Amino acid sequence: MLKITWGQTLSGTVEISGSKNASLPIIAASLLLEKVTLHNVPRIGDIFSLLEIIQSLGVVVNFTGNTLTMDMSRISLENMNRELMKKIRASILLLAPLLYRFGSVDIPFPGGCNIGKRPINEHLNGLREIGYESKDGDESIHLSGKLQSGDKNLYAGFAVTATENLITANILRPGHTRIHLAAIEPHVVNLVDFLKKQGANIVMNYDHTIDIVGVERILTIGEFSIVHDYIESGTFVVLGALASEGYIDIHHACISWLTSFLAKCQEVGVRFEDRGEDTLRVYRSEHLKAVKFQTNIFPGFPTDLQSVFCILLSQAEGVSRVQEIMFEGRLNFLVELEKMKGHPALMNPHEALIFGPTHLRGSTVSSWDLRAGVAMIIAGLVATGDTYITNVEYIERGYEDIIGKIGKLGVVIEKTE
Ligand code: EPU
Repeated sequence: MLKITWGQTLSGTVEISGSKNASLPIIAASLLLEKVTLHNVPRIGDIFSLLEIIQSLGVVVNFTGNTLTMDMSRISLENMNRELMKKIRASILLLAPLLYRFGSVDIPFPGGCNIGKRPINEHLNGLREIGYESKDGDESIHLSGKLQSGDKNLYAGFAVTATENLITANILRPGHTRIHLAAIEPHVVNLVDFLKKQGANIVMNYDHTIDIVGVERILTIGEFSIVHDYIESGTFVVLGALASEGYIDIHHACISWLTSFLAKCQEVGVRFEDRGEDTLRVYRSEHLKAVKFQTNIFPGFPTDLQSVFCILLSQAEGVSRVQEIMFEGRLNFLVELEKMKGHPALMNPHEALIFGPTHLRGSTVSSWDLRAGVAMIIAGLVATGDTYITNVEYIERGYEDIIGKIGKLGVVIEKTE
């Protein structure tokens, strides 16, 4: 449990970590190589879980600081940790590399956050189309077959991990692959850059298509640096606006990937300044105004910043309208805001109103998922009275040393039993 004592303010500079959602597919795709060194990998729960899974596959892992080395020379399916695979959504990313290596895989349906249905039809349709047959059990996904050559048109439905699996599955497939309706989030681009550096032939186009011409082989030893995390950066924007003493500076802020988010922040009345070299200064902001917003695929407003933005809106004058188009469970965390005397109204699983401004009161609240958990930290800093947050393991899955980082900005968050 976390305890946030009220009345504290932030100041100083925060360094944004490497991106969770870029590291996960790049670690998974690394299974195609023999040895890989990755820099700027965040030390967070989801990465530790994925590494434990790949260690159970015989991969030798060394994770020192933010540098990760992996040696795949003894990879095998013999002792795969199925229990852990059930727990993290990212285990689905192992499908493509394991199929390429072994021609057949049987993995449990992946778990993940409490944010709603997480279908995998786009992954399976694409993999079937290139030659793998699937037998769906109730509990597991079984795919096997021979990778077909020739030209293929695949469809990813703008789904992020499906796009990533289909890219990885096709870089060594003889023939031309066109992935239609591809996700183009910065983490997808980072995966493409990683694979291109290893010799893959991939072109991302402006119309959400990705062209891949299969190469005979890629490099067996790779080195790469993970991009910074624009979702973590957006989280600190809201923290700075609501809880800084005067302002905070965000280094590696990924400003160019936050355009939709920052435009909405500006509409609400958040004051910020681009200080150059990807540093964003965010000022404490008052007289905030209600807005309407809708989550969307990149470069739209990211669903992963919806919950922290809702906390911002709880402090804005008027009635805000939130449309969460991706995940039907992701607005449920608003019941926690209600416990803190906020005034949200859930209209349906995809839509909520937020009445503001409200004087939030400290309470005991729960993290519904990693993003909603961090939203509760922000709410706790805005509230009068102490706030206790349970289920903090969700937050630790996705934010590197969040307590330490906020601590460096002058705010003490205690971790209690
Ligand atoms: N969808 C389908 N069919 C599929 C796959 C997805 O209909 O086969 C639908 C989903 O129901 C959902 C939408 O497409 O409505 C988005 O799902 P997507 O597959 O894109 O989500 P994901 O790949 O499972 C990644 C991130 C999420 C992030 C979403 C959306 C990773 C490891 N996870 O999930 O990150 O919310 O994209 O941008 O990259 C987080 O970091 O907190 C997180 C949940």
